[in-house]
Amino acid sequence: MSVTVRVPAKVNVRLAVGGARPDGFHDLANVFLAVGLYDEVTVRPAPSLTITCAGPDADQVPLDRTNLAARAAELLAARHGIAPDVHIHIAKDIPVAGGMAGGSADGAGALLACDTLWGLGSTRDELLSLCAQLGSDVPFSLVGGAALGTGRGERLTELEVGGGFSWVFAVADGGLSTPAVYGEFDRLNEGVNVPEPVASPQLLDALRTGDVLALADAVSNDLQPAALSLRPSLADTLAVGAEAGALASLVSGSGPTTAFLAKDADAAQAVASALTSSGTCRTARVAGAPAAGARVLAD
Ligand code: C5P
Repeated sequence: MSVTVRVPAKVNVRLAVGGARPDGFHDLANVFLAVGLYDEVTVRPAPSLTITCAGPDADQVPLDRTNLAARAAELLAARHGIAPDVHIHIAKDIPVAGGMAGGSADGAGALLACDTLWGLGSTRDELLSLCAQLGSDVPFSLVGGAALGTGRGERLTELEVGGGFSWVFAVADGGLSTPAVYGEFDRLNEGVNVPEPVASPQLLDALRTGDVLALADAVSNDLQPAALSLRPSLADTLAVGAEAGALASLVSGSGPTTAFLAKDADAAQAVASALTSSGTCRTARVAGAPAAGARVLAD
């Protein structure tokens, strides 16, 4: 008996970041959009909690209890007074430490997979509350589609999306640490009165109507200057995508993956080819949005 859950990556189409809070986190107005790059998390009964991972970046994935998938299994088991005795296998296709919530996806996937394997029947709200304990981006990985995240990003309001969008993601060599990027944001904003983060009405309208040109005008990421400061070469990747016809080019979340919004699927292929041949990134991936959230796959 095994259960497999498929979970999407995300791009932040608006990441508005407030000042540092006393708990070290930052208040956000974080508009998440799930995109069609997926990890698959499979769980099966085992003598003890173990993890394996396969995929192009598998060697960069921790296989100990720091992996969010392991922490998800432990958290759910502890909540129900049972032992987290499962083997978790992650088939990884989402870039690792790339600002696309790959680790969060595995946390949400393992939570749903274990809940199903153990026949616990948790409600969606129970799962969302456990997701929020695992990390700020984990609830969105469960929900998918598009959503506004407030608080530290974990309090979600689902958003309507009126059409499909074509994206290209340029995967950089090596990851960027999310805490390091937030730390650089604080350093760059020292002495600045950082305004309250707000969602832009233009952006929400663009998503609702499925208007790609309006969306391109409205995307923004307050972490981009910090990611560029830590990894200046990302500016070259952004320039290549813009030159190749991307309607908008931005750093995805805390980076170093860069995201390019294209007019349509053909334009996305052209942007991806230009990025791949430019040598400014390791690889470029085309993906559609919105994508569904975590789903149990049929056997
Ligand atoms: O919630 P999560 O564990 O994914 O956050 C990772 C790190 O990112 C935090 O330890 C913190 O440094 C930073 N962070 C933040 N403000 C947020 C979300 C994350 O400062 N809203």
